[in-house]
Order: sequence, then C-alpha cells, then structure tokens
Amino acid sequence: MDASQRPARRSWAEPWKVKMVEPIAMLTRDQRERAIRTAGYNTFLLKSEEVYIDLLTDSGTSAMSDWQWAGMMLGDEAYAGSKNFYNLEAAIRKHYGYKHIVPTHQGRGAEHLLSKVTIKPGDFIPGNMYFTTTRVHQELAGGTFVDVIIDEAHDPEIELPFKGNVDLDKFEALIRKVGAEKIPYITVHATVNMAGGQPVSMANVKAVSDLAKTHGIKVFLDATRAVENAYFIQQREVGYSTKSVAEILLEFCSHSDGCTMSGKKDALVNIGGWLAVNDDRIFEDATNLVVIYEGLQTYGGMAGRDMEAMARGIVESVQDDHIRARIGQVEYLGNKLIEWGIPIVRPVGGHAIYLDAKKFCPHLPQDAFPAQTLAAELYADSGVRAMERGIVSAGRNKDTGDHYYPKLELVRLTIPRRVYTQAHMDVVAESVAAVNDERAKIRGLRMVYEPKYLRFFQARFEPN
Ligand code: F0G
Repeated sequence: MDASQRPARRSWAEPWKVKMVEPIAMLTRDQRERAIRTAGYNTFLLKSEEVYIDLLTDSGTSAMSDWQWAGMMLGDEAYAGSKNFYNLEAAIRKHYGYKHIVPTHQGRGAEHLLSKVTIKPGDFIPGNMYFTTTRVHQELAGGTFVDVIIDEAHDPEIELPFKGNVDLDKFEALIRKVGAEKIPYITVHATVNMAGGQPVSMANVKAVSDLAKTHGIKVFLDATRAVENAYFIQQREVGYSTKSVAEILLEFCSHSDGCTMSGKKDALVNIGGWLAVNDDRIFEDATNLVVIYEGLQTYGGMAGRDMEAMARGIVESVQDDHIRARIGQVEYLGNKLIEWGIPIVRPVGGHAIYLDAKKFCPHLPQDAFPAQTLAAELYADSGVRAMERGIVSAGRNKDTGDHYYPKLELVRLTIPRRVYTQAHMDVVAESVAAVNDERAKIRGLRMVYEPKYLRFFQARFEPN
C-alpha cells in the first residue's frame, strides 16, 4: 500500500507502559450463570474472581504509577501531623485552590461532614442531579435534595456539549419558593455521574456562583471527576483550547466555596478523599467532627502512605496527556458502540459508557428492572461486570415509600484508569453487541431483598 491509499491519521497512545500485570481468568458460561444466580442477579454481589473485565466502577480501581508506589514507601505513619498529610494538603491547595483541607477515608466521609455541619432539618439542597451517597447524607441531616439540572440531562439522546449544567431558572425558582435562608448550599457535580459523566461549563459554574452569592448561598463542588470536567472544557468551551487542564481546574474551583472529593476517581488512588473549604467556620466545625467519624484531622481515616499516593496522584491526574488518554479510551469504546447502532447515552461522557436500557429492552416495564437485568445478562455473556444506574439506584421517596422512577434507566460500563487495553474494550463492545442481538428474550427481574439505604449495593433479585 502506498501513502496515498493509507488513511491519513496519526494515532495516539497512552503516556505510560506496563510494568506489572495481574492475571485474570474467564469462567465458562455455566459457571457465570451459576455465579450471577448466587449473587442474586446483582453485580455488586459477585466475587471479583468471578469477573473477567471489571467495569463495575472507576472508583478505587485505578492503576497507580511507579512514582505513586514509591511514595507508598515514604508513608509517615505517625498518628498526628504525618508529613504525608502536609504533602497532600499542598497538592490540593496547588491544584484545586482551596484554603482548608479535611481528609476523609473516601468521598462519602466528606459528604457526611459537610451535610452535618451545614444542613438544618427542613433545609433544601439543590444539585445538578442526585448522586446516591450525596443525597442520602443530605437526607439523613434533615435536608431535601432538589434536582436543578437542565432538562436535557434526563434525555439520553440529546447531544449537548455541557449536558451537566445547572438550570439557573430552576435554581432561582427554588430560592423564590423556599427562601435563600433554607438553602445552605448548592452542589455542583462536575462531571455528573448519574447523567452519564456529562460536564458542566465554566460559564455555567460562574453563573451559578454569581446567583448563589447574591443570595448568600454557598457553592460546593462534587469535585470527584472535576479533572475530567476540565478536559471537556478545554475541548469544547470557547476560549479554553489553549489553556492547560490544570489551569482550567483551578479556575473552575475558584467559582466555589469548597468541595467534597472522592480521591478514588480522578486522583488515581485506591482509597481516600477530602473535604475542602474556604470558610473558617465550616472548617472549624468539620475539623471538630472529623475526629468522631473519620480520624484525626491530619489523617481522616487514611494511612500516611495512602495520603502520599493521593498527593502524587493529584499531580499526575492534571497532566494533559494523561487525561486525554483516559477519556480517549472511553470515547473509543463509545464510538464503537455508536457505530454498531447500540443505544448509549450521548454524547459519550468522561468515565463510562451508559447503555440505554429502556431502548435496549422496550418490552420491559421499569419495575422489571431493565438495567439490572441487562447488567446480569452482560455478565453471563462474557464475564464483563457493569452496574445498574436506574430505578434500583434511585431508591424510594422517603416520604411516600414509592420507587423513584428516573427517566434514565442505564447500565454503566465504567472504565478504570490506566488498567485495561484497547483489546479489552473490543471484547466489551462485542459482548454488548451479542447481548443486543438477543435482547428480545430478556425477561426482567423481581426484587426479593431490599435493604433500607443505598439498596443497589445489596439488593437481591430473581428472574421473572
Ligand atoms: N460523588 C460522586 C460523583 C461519585 O461518583 C461518588 C462515588 C461519590 C461522590 C462517593 O465517593 O465512593 O469515595 O465514597 N462513586 C462511585 C461510583 C461509588 O461507582 O460511581 P466514595
């Protein structure tokens, strides 16, 4: 083939090479069917050894770099004042820009502290779509979550560059209805996990911040995947294409009063999180509570070595070539599925591909748990483990006891960072296509055990 016949492209590849591998095995179809039955058709209840390609979550599943592992050997395991805490604090201040840091064992620890410190019974907390653990902590503190994301975010097919944006009219209407004094803060998730990993624009976070400020309402980011959000701003928002992801992240955070953070995602570690705040009073109250629920204010439930790994992970996470490869891999899988006509949430988000289970199985009512069923079918087909993000995750209304019926009924194929290859993505795509071919035969499930909180983690099902 001469040059004129060759497609004119230059591929990119990951900015790392593999130094250590972890073998994985694939069970037979019979073994997988037995395993998913024993797990009550809930992929959370499978044993990891029963899984071939694990796309349950991108949380705590990243591969650490040699520099992070080297940092693990420098753990200062002092009960108080570990040097690793100060390294972590410095990395957060430098890259996220906040004044005070309260370390926590993971993201929900930070959500717990923030909710307890700021929410009074009867308060309302607007947010751009709910997240499971965030909402439950707000409710346990006596608050009511109010969804103020743009309507388009609830539609899997509408293509918008910033489908995670807050609808300012909805936010303003809530302020008018309940009064600003009943709204301690607004949560801005960047990116929005439950909407398909969709980003928020810089213009939107700034407008939210301006409106909140005029009413004395604080803005807290859920910064769990804010680096991925910054990459989308660089790629899609006018005026940002020549700025680095690190610069964009700092500017984005500057429009908020603090953040909760699960370091298990963007920050490339297996455990850890933090609460960051600029307000001295909130910091003092959270510092007071952290010693009850997490650990001393200089470790918050993490070992010194874990804090060092996270400090280094933060530095690596904001490198442009890292984040391009990370999101590039997600896009690779998404584009393949789009090409094959598989219904997925569009546009492709930052950390995962979301199969649209309502489109996949239009013959199933939502209370036959189409997404839960599809995740079980996918596992039986190939050992690929995905997760339900639909009616089971949405839970029940705490006042009426009814299921929430979310518009989005999704199966999430979540891509861990720096773990799987392009060939793994091909295997996943082919398995999704095979399940799609047989989808008319899928019968749905019924729930036979339902825990009180965050039921998707432990609920059990049987086939209809
Ligand atoms: N916020 C967002 C947006 C999240 O995605 C998560 C966790 C949390 C907060 C809570 O953090 O797990 O460290 O306590 N999401 C995981 C997931 C569990 O699979 O999406 P955590």
